[in-house]
Amino acid sequence: MPLERTVKALVLVGGFGTRLRPITYALPKQLIPLAGKPMLYHVLDQLPADIEEVVFASGYKADVLERYLTQHPLRWPTRTVPEATPLGTGGGMRNAGAGLSDPFLVLNSDVIAEIDVPGLIRLHAHRGGVGALSLSEVEDTRPYGVAALGADDRIERFVEKPTPEAAPSHWINAGLSIWRKSVLERIPEGRAVSWETEIVPGLLSEGVFGFRCPGFWEDAGTPERLLHSQRLLFDAGRGGPAKLPDGSRGRGPVAFAPSVRAEGAEFGGYVHLDADVRLGAGSFVEDSILMEGVQVGPNAHVRHAILGPHVRVASDAAVDGEVLASNLDSRAP
Ligand code: GDD
Ligand code: MG
Repeated sequence: MPLERTVKALVLVGGFGTRLRPITYALPKQLIPLAGKPMLYHVLDQLPADIEEVVFASGYKADVLERYLTQHPLRWPTRTVPEATPLGTGGGMRNAGAGLSDPFLVLNSDVIAEIDVPGLIRLHAHRGGVGALSLSEVEDTRPYGVAALGADDRIERFVEKPTPEAAPSHWINAGLSIWRKSVLERIPEGRAVSWETEIVPGLLSEGVFGFRCPGFWEDAGTPERLLHSQRLLFDAGRGGPAKLPDGSRGRGPVAFAPSVRAEGAEFGGYVHLDADVRLGAGSFVEDSILMEGVQVGPNAHVRHAILGPHVRVASDAAVDGEVLASNLDSRAP
């Protein structure tokens, strides 16, 4: 069903990705691949085809991101608005706010989910107020923003990263929301501002509604949650065709580039292999992400690991639960 109105989307792609270091010393977390393509491309899969424009509020490694977007164009017109210094989620929205639609969508760029975006847009049109947040129900609310819902799904309280005792519910900010353009004026200029802690609580009295999303949801911002996101995508059939590289055996799913060589290797499922990955005979890989040019020696085992570009795993070695990078750019803050 086509959207009833013109909507642009603002995507927050700043942030240092500290919880995915050392890989994020060299590239923004949004470009880490999982289940066949970079995180950002999975995030944007949720957007309807008739979104008018996608605007990226970028910061850290903005040049790397922009180059990738140029080489791998999206289906919508795009524009990037970089920040000279990190402005936080709210500051990034204000900085990139010129030329947005009214209302506009805001997306965190690390959320792997299946949110009904047209449904969110319709809910906002129907309920009014200044905005609506998609919400997901999770057990452990500590890393997230938590909403207390009243009658008609009105959000009555919003607390960012509360202690379990202070959490008003298990419904968390799923990282995809819609706002009237006027809210941008509420964000102070010229300094870093957290949208969630400094701005959202003050908007509630003007009407912010919750849109409960039953589908899968994960924030891919930590190693464990990134690998969990990959499993969710594969299980939802969003990881490409179910086959193994030539000459390998074991269990899929495995997403792999055509240039991968894995003769004699074995898989335990839920694996992404980027271009030019080489797996030695007798090696075993499961629940892992191996980025471009990774080499795994014969009989080595790789489990629950994220290996950055060109990492080498020695023959017979065992890597379990690690995030490794080979060329560290330690100039990053
Ligand atoms: N432009 C810009 N500038 N973007 C930023 C900045 C910045 O200074 N800092 C962070 N971002 C981007 C990140 O890239 C990410 O896409 C988004 O803003 C949210 O930042 P995270 O660092 O991932 O926040 P979080 O995961 O701790 O919490 C947020 O997401 C949760 C859902 O995943 C909050 O929005 C929570 O309320 C929410 O529940
Ligand atoms: Mg996050």
